[in-house]
Amino acid sequence: MTVLRVRGFEIHKGFLDQSAQSQLLSAIRDVVQAAPLFRPDTPYGKQMSVRMSAAGKYGWFSDMTGYRYVTAHPNGKPWPSIPVEVMEVWDALTGLDRRPECCLINYYDADARMGLHQDKDEADFRWPVVSISLGDEGLFRMGNVTRGGKTESVWLQSGDVVVMGGDARLTYHGVDRIRAQSSTLLRGGGRINLTLRVVE
Ligand code: SIN
Ligand code: FE2
Repeated sequence: MTVLRVRGFEIHKGFLDQSAQSQLLSAIRDVVQAAPLFRPDTPYGKQMSVRMSAAGKYGWFSDMTGYRYVTAHPNGKPWPSIPVEVMEVWDALTGLDRRPECCLINYYDADARMGLHQDKDEADFRWPVVSISLGDEGLFRMGNVTRGGKTESVWLQSGDVVVMGGDARLTYHGVDRIRAQSSTLLRGGGRINLTLRVVE
């Protein structure tokens, strides 16, 4: 396992071995069974290409009125709780007593992408964001704390975990593209990204 440090992002390459990846995936399948993936609308009226769900007290939601955290899935039910396997990754990498209240689940098919953005819907930016990659590789782009300027990109592979803390917590980032069929972890292909956040 190696750790890359790029613009404050701590990229733990190969943090999860094959069996840890499979266990996480099966826990996430259970979550998605109870809280099916949906495609949020952006406030600009376009559908996102990424499909989403969540676990924990809060899930992230977006529609014409804006971005926000909500305590229920669009189907009205509370989000399932965050699987222990997911919490263990947070514990191992942050060493914090405080635990995340949101595990956002992003599913990227081969054509999905996520534009450069900052994660800033949370109350306290001193807590890190932990991001887990499963399945097909995604090209992760990292920019600056303000919009624009030079960027650097790294392919995130299944089992890689990124910690965004310190300056990187508010650094622009996004996913430019997915390398189809680069992993066999997901039977139907695609990429799952889990982001763990302290929300309150
Ligand atoms: C995100 O920034 O919310 C997702 C990042 C990723 O998919 O790796
Ligand atoms: Fe993000």
